[in-house]
Amino acid sequence: MGELEALNETTVKDYLAQRGLAERLGGGAEDWVAEPITDGNVNLLFRVKNPHAGRSLIVKQALGYAWRYPDFKMPKGRLAIEHAVLQVAAEHAPEQVPEVYFFSPEDAVLVMEDLNRHREMRAALREGTRFPRAAEHLGRYMARTLFYTSDLYLPSGEKKARAAELVNPVLRKVQEDLVFTQPFMEHPNNRYSPPLEPLVREIYADDGLRAEVHELKERYMTQAQALIHNDLHTGSILANEEETKVVDPEFAFFGPMGHDLGTYLGNLALAYAAYEAHAANGEEKRAFRDWLLESLIETWRVFEREFLAAWEKDVQREEWSSDRYRERYLKRLLQDAAGFGAAEMFRRLIGMAHVSDFWSIEDEDERAAAESLGLDIARAWIASWRALERPEDLAALVRAGRVLL
Ligand SMILES: Nc1ncnc2c1ncn2[C@@H]1O[C@H](COP(=O)(O)OP(=O)(O)OP(=O)(O)O)[C@@H](O)[C@H]1O
Ligand SMILES: [Mg+2]
Repeated sequence: MGELEALNETTVKDYLAQRGLAERLGGGAEDWVAEPITDGNVNLLFRVKNPHAGRSLIVKQALGYAWRYPDFKMPKGRLAIEHAVLQVAAEHAPEQVPEVYFFSPEDAVLVMEDLNRHREMRAALREGTRFPRAAEHLGRYMARTLFYTSDLYLPSGEKKARAAELVNPVLRKVQEDLVFTQPFMEHPNNRYSPPLEPLVREIYADDGLRAEVHELKERYMTQAQALIHNDLHTGSILANEEETKVVDPEFAFFGPMGHDLGTYLGNLALAYAAYEAHAANGEEKRAFRDWLLESLIETWRVFEREFLAAWEKDVQREEWSSDRYRERYLKRLLQDAAGFGAAEMFRRLIGMAHVSDFWSIEDEDERAAAESLGLDIARAWIASWRALERPEDLAALVRAGRVLL
């Protein structure tokens, strides 16, 4: 069989029928409607519905390049990595991921549950929507997926075999460049709102800041601590009042746990900064921001509680018997989270991949003002990441942030 071509609205239906997935939707291809989902940049996604039966599913196909930027080559094997992570999560945090119905490594096609009752968390936060259970769900998701893929739990040989299977060099290099290198130097990929120019100049000239970022980059490149999602931002989370689901783990590899924690917490801080321009009034702004920071603290608390519970129950005790080490481990994770969270904030504000929290703010001066607040918070996190003791310290640094323009 030849290589599967890029699917379209017609062929995706035939594909499902040929692969025995008709039963999921009911009826046959002639009863279904397929529509492309064009929110992402990398893969082809379709929602295929049977309107008569009220059923639907999602088809995700990886091509040998990024769908929106065909010159950007990317190995199709990234979808096998996504599938492997979804399997791990299905075992340890099944409520936090979509159910997988079908996967073909040859075709690089994944068929999964349609999370159509959920909203992209980033878009909803922009409008001031609260997610009362997100902290509980994401704290637990991170604790369990990270603990159970670390050396604390997995036998040494098995962990190394898994890490060797899921190396993901091409997508990691993308993150090394876009998160840890380019935002801190003059680079053609970088974009920023023009009023930020003086601040960006300061950042490019700041060797002390680059030294801290290099520390984080070194950890990112060398520390195979656990199987991390590696792109756990609020655009990879689909949620509603009751449920929280993590999608799109194609960047995953065995890396530092603090990167997942920091990416998520950093994106809450970005939502806080962007709310400068989205709030209807002062009271609304204060109340929503209070919620964001409570949620940030609670996410860490749940993470810590669940991580310690997993440790208590399932650590390889003969390998890791020290109580003091366990305390240190958790403290180091909080500190790493602050460092990685800051790197994530910088890259979303002045690097290549911007986020709708800010680009949806039409007025350039208002946008730059909100972005300058984000930069101030990022600088505060990275200036003190090694000294942080509690999640309240992180929240306090967010609260102390200033609009710099
Ligand atoms: N299981 C799902 N149910 C409903 N919608 C989904 C599902 N998976 C993805 N989506 C939607 O499709 C969008 C793109 O999905 P995803 O992020 O997996 O694709 P991608 O091409 O890898 O995107 P990116 O450029 O962000 O890496 C998501 O933001 C979400 O809106
Ligand atoms: Mg993706």
